[in-house]
Amino acid sequence: MATSATIVLLGKIGQLGWELHRDLQPLGRVVALDFPQIDFSRPDELLSMVESLQPALIVNAVAYTNVDKAESEPELCDQINSRTVERLAQQAARLRCGLIHISTDYVFDGFQSRPYTEEDPTHPLNRYGSSKLAGEQAVLAHAPACWVLRTAWLYSRRANDFVQRVLTWSRQQETLKIVDDQVGSPTWARLLSQMISLALAQAKGEYFNYIRDTRGVYHLAGDGAASRLEWVQKILELDPARQEQKTRQVLPAKTAEFPTPAQRPLFTALDCGKFERVFGLRLPPWDQALALAMEK
Ligand SMILES: NC(=O)c1ccc[n+]([C@@H]2O[C@H](COP(=O)([O-])OP(=O)(O)OC[C@H]3O[C@@H](n4cnc5c(N)ncnc54)[C@H](OP(=O)(O)O)[C@@H]3O)[C@@H](O)[C@H]2O)c1
Repeated sequence: MATSATIVLLGKIGQLGWELHRDLQPLGRVVALDFPQIDFSRPDELLSMVESLQPALIVNAVAYTNVDKAESEPELCDQINSRTVERLAQQAARLRCGLIHISTDYVFDGFQSRPYTEEDPTHPLNRYGSSKLAGEQAVLAHAPACWVLRTAWLYSRRANDFVQRVLTWSRQQETLKIVDDQVGSPTWARLLSQMISLALAQAKGEYFNYIRDTRGVYHLAGDGAASRLEWVQKILELDPARQEQKTRQVLPAKTAEFPTPAQRPLFTALDCGKFERVFGLRLPPWDQALALAMEK
């Protein structure tokens, strides 16, 4: 029976993990863990905790996500995003449990001009991207029943996410300068989590067999694409407290004007057709999702 299966959720406080903690509830007995109870830089302890739970499914929402800091902390970034993930994938094989692993559009270099499919060659430009790519490869090399779900430009409406930061700037600054040469697929963590849960519901509790039969890499992000500038303009337009905005103009800028430690890919729109074909599910257009996320 579906609800007797143990699902271990790794990372319950992050943007996606927070939503998964809620959406996975109908699908089994959810054991949700986060730092410091689990620490991906101490894999032995993590693995023995997971082993003791004998899960039918592991969902990994933990990641080192600070793209710029990763350039000066490459060891820690690799440990969390790839080396510990490899151990986890080996453990999933031993325990014969399903493994869902989240990855990123930053595995691409962004030099393409049409949305990336799962077949397109990867070529990360920064340490975060290369550590996430190594994590994907480890999962695919070891876990017999796995989904590697690449998402992009996540926002959550919680804590200090990108949407919240834009709203804060809009209360403080008359002019915003936002890059218009970075294009991606904004993705609301709540809907992403619902998509993952709806796909998992199709397993009817047989997580290992179902995930093994549908094994592979999938792109899963808000439908369509926008530049950072278009995204910001939409956030300001949909802001339910527009009267509090001080911002009078939003000017286009170029990525090169804002040097950062990590180089970012410029175009990473994701083609999510494969996920739709296999599971019959798709995320709505990014601006429609944003409108729902901004509703009071
Ligand atoms: N954010 C994006 O725009 C974006 C874009 C594409 C793909 N993704 C991918 O989507 C997934 C979810 O991202 P997110 O935005 O939800 O990330 P997030 O909000 O940064 O959450 C990551 C989680 O990992 C935990 N964590 C970090 N270091 C840890 C460690 N050493 N041991 C145990 N837990 C640790 C964090 O705990 P603390 O909060 O305590 O550090 C947090 O709960 C990740 O795989 C990410 O690579 C994200």
